[in-house]
Amino acid sequence: MSIPDDGIATAQIHAGYEPQGPHRPVAVPLYQSAAYEFPDYESARRMFALKEPGFTYTRTGNPTVAVLEQRLAALEGGVAALATATGQAAVAVALLALVSGGQHIVASSKLYGGTVDLLTDTFADFGIEASFADPADAGAWAAAVRPQTRAFLTESIGNPLAGLQDLPALAAVAHSAGVPLVVDNTLATPVLYRPLELGADVVVYSATKFLGGHGTSLAGAVVDGGRFDFASYPDKWPQLTRPKRRYGGDTLWSRHGHGAYLALARSKYLHDLGPSLSPYNAAQILQGLETLDIRVARHVANTREVVRFLAGHPAVAQVHHPSLPSSPDAAVAARDFPRGTGSVFSFDLAADPAETGPFIDRLRLFKLVANVGDTRSLVAHPAAMTHCRLTPQQRAAAGIGETTIRLSIGLESAADLVADLAQALAPLATERQASGAPAAVVNV
Ligand SMILES: Cc1ncc(COP(=O)(O)O)c(C=O)c1O
Repeated sequence: MSIPDDGIATAQIHAGYEPQGPHRPVAVPLYQSAAYEFPDYESARRMFALKEPGFTYTRTGNPTVAVLEQRLAALEGGVAALATATGQAAVAVALLALVSGGQHIVASSKLYGGTVDLLTDTFADFGIEASFADPADAGAWAAAVRPQTRAFLTESIGNPLAGLQDLPALAAVAHSAGVPLVVDNTLATPVLYRPLELGADVVVYSATKFLGGHGTSLAGAVVDGGRFDFASYPDKWPQLTRPKRRYGGDTLWSRHGHGAYLALARSKYLHDLGPSLSPYNAAQILQGLETLDIRVARHVANTREVVRFLAGHPAVAQVHHPSLPSSPDAAVAARDFPRGTGSVFSFDLAADPAETGPFIDRLRLFKLVANVGDTRSLVAHPAAMTHCRLTPQQRAAAGIGETTIRLSIGLESAADLVADLAQALAPLATERQASGAPAAVVNV
């Protein structure tokens, strides 16, 4: 298990916070306050007019939340970040600041089910259309572009099959179409992957998962790389480049330059829709972040053991993990993920679909939970749970079958995790041997 040493370890503990005030608290203080007393009337007036920075009301900003935002921007290499109540809110706000009714998104066909629900149901109700393309096929993304396209969206490591993509190739397609590439980096974290360095423009997170890391608190974040030049296509982005009454007749671009995109996300979408992160949950995520690199290294080391075991098991038809040499993503994994491709992945049982439920119920250490990125190891059945609202065609395009099982490998002893899987798989292997079924085709 190697712990990366590239500044992350220091930034995850210190970035965005310097002890100050009479007591100089060493841990980030929890400012559990809904609002803030203005020093005087003139300051209040200027802050409300967005002409003077400062905290007015926790819906749009809070000192504890602000430390988290600065820390995430530092870890990701972005210019600024916006924290949200959930990852779902982060994805929604990141996209709403780019796309409105009558416009269009090109998205990966291998996304978390909640994101698919957002795109195909709620956004469809708003008149925002989405086309889905295989993330491994940059040509399909180019073919899906329309004059109304305003964003590309993918996951650095797809949920639940851990699929990867050639991000620089997707970024090139996005940029030649004049739109930003938004990457959900939830399953990779900045420890394993830095989308902004590979051409992405915006990174989104469910901080509920590995960033917080302990399964206690929901949170999300939008990190802006600050490089996408919205001013080059002013007609495409009137929300940033045209004067608005809301901003005193100014354009957001003239006020904030490359910070305009996040200024819009905060001052309009966080303000108007209200999916704001509570200070308490921000403090929980900050505490989790302090050990992020150490935890991720152990998650990855444990996953290596579990993948090795599953890939050689006769009751397993296929293991979907990019670390396997036969994975279609092995080359991208070797090039772009030197520290591993994460600890959330899936495998298919070589069994009748009716055996899936009993297999899951035999697991003892793996908890049946609709979450990932916890210290505890978790199991889910995507077809019945996280991806149950997808059509059969959407599930097929995502590679999710009836016997596909998703695991999130925790921080327990790897030997105990393997033993738990072994006892739960044993009856299936025995059945296969008794029925004389041929050994599973193991994808290694
Ligand atoms: C990749 C990914 N993005 C976004 C989300 C949504 O995050 P949250 O549950 O914090 O709203 C999830 C949730 O599982 C996820 O796995």
